[in-house]
Amino acid sequence: MEFDINKIRQDFPILQQKIYGKPLVYLDNAATTQKPKVVIDTVSKYYYEENANIHRGVHYLSNKATESFEIARKNIQKYINAENSHEIIFTKGTTDSINLVASSFGKKFISKDDEILISVMEHHSNIVPWQILCEEKKAKLRVIPINEKGEIIFDVFEKLLNEKTKLVAITHVSNALGTINPVKEIISKAHKKNIPVLIDGAQSIPHLKVDVKELDCDFYCFSGHKVYAPMGVGVLYGKEKFLEEMPPYQSGGEMIKNVTFEKTTFNELPFKFEAGTPNVGGVLGLSAAFDYLNKIGRENIEVYENELLNYATEELQKINGLRFIGTAKHKTSVISFLIGDIHPYDAGIIIDKMGVAIRTGHHCAQPVLDWFKIPGTIRASFAFYNTKDEIDRLIEAILQVIKMFG
Ligand code: ALA
Repeated sequence: MEFDINKIRQDFPILQQKIYGKPLVYLDNAATTQKPKVVIDTVSKYYYEENANIHRGVHYLSNKATESFEIARKNIQKYINAENSHEIIFTKGTTDSINLVASSFGKKFISKDDEILISVMEHHSNIVPWQILCEEKKAKLRVIPINEKGEIIFDVFEKLLNEKTKLVAITHVSNALGTINPVKEIISKAHKKNIPVLIDGAQSIPHLKVDVKELDCDFYCFSGHKVYAPMGVGVLYGKEKFLEEMPPYQSGGEMIKNVTFEKTTFNELPFKFEAGTPNVGGVLGLSAAFDYLNKIGRENIEVYENELLNYATEELQKINGLRFIGTAKHKTSVISFLIGDIHPYDAGIIIDKMGVAIRTGHHCAQPVLDWFKIPGTIRASFAFYNTKDEIDRLIEAILQVIKMFG
């Protein structure tokens, strides 16, 4: 399909509005993405016409909702090329997916003195669950260092892998720096030592073609809301061999086979990990979002977003006094920077008043900012509905900040 940016922008109702009397420029896509009309319509159609609890009722609506939900699971399986649809576990989002693995895999496979390997550039969601697990089990959290560009130091990573390492948990794309990590190589090195790998895909699935079979990752986690779908829904992909062995995470409805006061037996995959009524509308919205992205073409999206990132990088580099945080060779859709010694929050307030939405602060990735010895950055993050004109508006806003702060 031809990539027609004007037509694409029409698909996103929220982008049509004015903020402070100026057309909205939304450059906070790493925090959450806007939703195309087809996703909003799918969710609303579900509540208008199909709403019922799933896997439970004998009535028409319940069967219809169950059928749509399981079709969505298969569609999502196909989108990330998982081997089986029961390897797709619906969660609340990336954080929930990582917590599931930390709790369940941790219970089964982590013992005293074992090591879990993460990197400096992780989001708090891929640090804190492991920290808590290590404390409980008296295991060790080891950290892969990065260089000044914000790239992991591969040699050190290799040296950190040893017979005590029980899991590598690493982000595919850094939310604070935009670095694309060489996850395929990381997985292949770890597998040579029989170490499973969890990929935090929150920031990669919106931008890159993800094929879990090709990556050969053992777990892949992502959130719906960062990939043009509703909030409160996400996915844990896990290889069957691990999911089968892992104990249930939460307990309650749906995850049981039989309950008596003496003993409860658990349901099969994927239901073993889906306790309680799921976010059915959200799952249908996620499936609709993937259909929409397929229609636009994932390669088209990648090419266009790279063009935007290159344009933004070149134009921002022309402004005196900007310091870029995260200059990796392989990056996607994020530019983090500081304007002289102006506090990112002060700059953010002025940029917002110009109708441009960006994020400032530590981006829930404090350790990587500590590594750069800064408290935070100004972060512009792009989606395929952004334009070069919008990047020009960001530049105007930055020039205004510089003017106001002298
Ligand atoms: N993790 C989200 C971000 O990077 C909220 O902004």
